[in-house]
Amino acid sequence: MSRLATLEILSAHLPLIAPSMLKCDFGNLYREVELLDCADARVLHLDVMDGHFVPNLSYGPVVIERLRELTTLPFDAHLMISDPGRYLDDFLRAGCEAVTFHIEAVPDAGPLLRRIREADAVAGLALNPGTPVERVEPFLADCDLVLVMSVEPGFGGQKFQSTALGKLRRLRELSPSLLLSVDGGIGPETIGPSSAAGADLFVVGSAIFKTDDYGQAIAQLAATAADARADRSTLTSR
Ligand code: DX5
Ligand code: ZN
Repeated sequence: MSRLATLEILSAHLPLIAPSMLKCDFGNLYREVELLDCADARVLHLDVMDGHFVPNLSYGPVVIERLRELTTLPFDAHLMISDPGRYLDDFLRAGCEAVTFHIEAVPDAGPLLRRIREADAVAGLALNPGTPVERVEPFLADCDLVLVMSVEPGFGGQKFQSTALGKLRRLRELSPSLLLSVDGGIGPETIGPSSAAGADLFVVGSAIFKTDDYGQAIAQLAATAADARADRSTLTSR
């Protein structure tokens, strides 16, 4: 899928819930993907960890390549790895339509963001809770998506850090058209404030995979985010 086609799919369904394939049952990926497809998920968030940039390991291109055979849903790869440029082509070949890497993992984000776009994929830049928005500001023109971490990357099931809200508001001000994603501790209580602050995409692990009904969880989260988003536009149009 081309970059523009992916952006169109993502933008057509905002606010969008992106299930995080970190808290799923890895013993039965086929079934998990099938359940998410039936649950009306529109995108899958793939958390890639290298045990170096973050203190945990997950999966890489080999697993993603097999996942690619199971669904046509766009893949939003979140690379929590050192030296992401070294592995970019592997993730693109494996079938990732969007690739997000961390600003803390590279000396200069610009060239890698441009490489992702040149490969006709959606270019994303992530920032950790301790990284100020000013660090990503110079690269916004090269980004399709910015991912604000609301927990320290590495593990699912952590508590949402509300410092993410100020960052979302600032990024929304700086770039009204940018896709803004928030990742970590998103659930029924935190999705509304995140949406009101400006997020479009909500990465969700525990609040989906710990429930028995993924469809219901996704629908309820999306409804809460949509309400907060509607309030946001009412406020800005006044
Ligand atoms: C954390 C990952 C997240 C995480 C989300 O490093 O980037 O995508 O799995 O899981 P929850 O929703 O449980 O915080
Ligand atoms: Zn993630």
